[in-house]
Amino acid sequence: MGSNNGPGIGAPAPTEAQIHAAVEGYRRPALAAYDWIVLGLVSRWVWRCSRRTMLAHYNRQVGRRHLDIGPGTGWFLDKCHFPTKNPSITLLDLNDVVLATSARRISRYRPVTHTGDAFKPLDLGAAKFDSVGMNFLLHCLPGSVPQKAVVFDNLAPYLTPGARVFGSTVLGSAAPEHTKVSSKLLRRLNSSDVFCNTGDRIEDIANELSARFTDVEIKQSGTVCLFSARVPEER
Ligand SMILES: C[S@@+](CC[C@H](N)C(=O)[O-])C[C@H]1O[C@@H](n2cnc3c(N)ncnc32)[C@H](O)[C@@H]1O
Repeated sequence: MGSNNGPGIGAPAPTEAQIHAAVEGYRRPALAAYDWIVLGLVSRWVWRCSRRTMLAHYNRQVGRRHLDIGPGTGWFLDKCHFPTKNPSITLLDLNDVVLATSARRISRYRPVTHTGDAFKPLDLGAAKFDSVGMNFLLHCLPGSVPQKAVVFDNLAPYLTPGARVFGSTVLGSAAPEHTKVSSKLLRRLNSSDVFCNTGDRIEDIANELSARFTDVEIKQSGTVCLFSARVPEER
């Protein structure tokens, strides 16, 4: 898996083992250190995109009814400003420890949790969302960018017209912004199946979003792509 990512959808589909490898590392000790090490140190100094930058992205995008896929520790949901005092928040993750940790952290919002794989059709009942966040999710998912984009398709039944889909993801090794240090960490994380993004390119992310949504915006901070898009008002 580590060297990853054929260019297109024709590459072999991600296996269950690869999908589960991407979530297994998020156990309690890792989650306890995550905010400081991943969001505080590594994002800022290695990927060169601070958590403040990603938080500002959340603040611009979150809606009243929000779905977060891969919420991790819930740092962004805890800190961001929702456009209402009582947002309706749903958390989806394949890892139950992640769900329990993030739900506890934002218990004041009484979030709904779903254990589920973003690669599979979702079972979220009659829920509808004005925003969907997927911060630092895509670089964990196995497969090429077109294969990862099935995550966007799986959201379709649950999005309101005008809903925002947004997130950030570390780019693959072709991004010229990678330094010696970030390239080395990228290789290490890919060879241990924590990341699967060697071939992820910003133009492929833009293409997949543009094929499904409107108002696609792509920004880059260091080696991190910050993206957002909207569901067309009339579908
Ligand atoms: C790097 S963490 C990001 C956490 C948080 N969004 C942040 O930015 O701090 C990736 C998250 O995605 C989840 N995840 C990975 N693959 C998944 C999948 N196939 N389906 C659902 N969740 C997944 C992991 O369990 C973890 O919570």
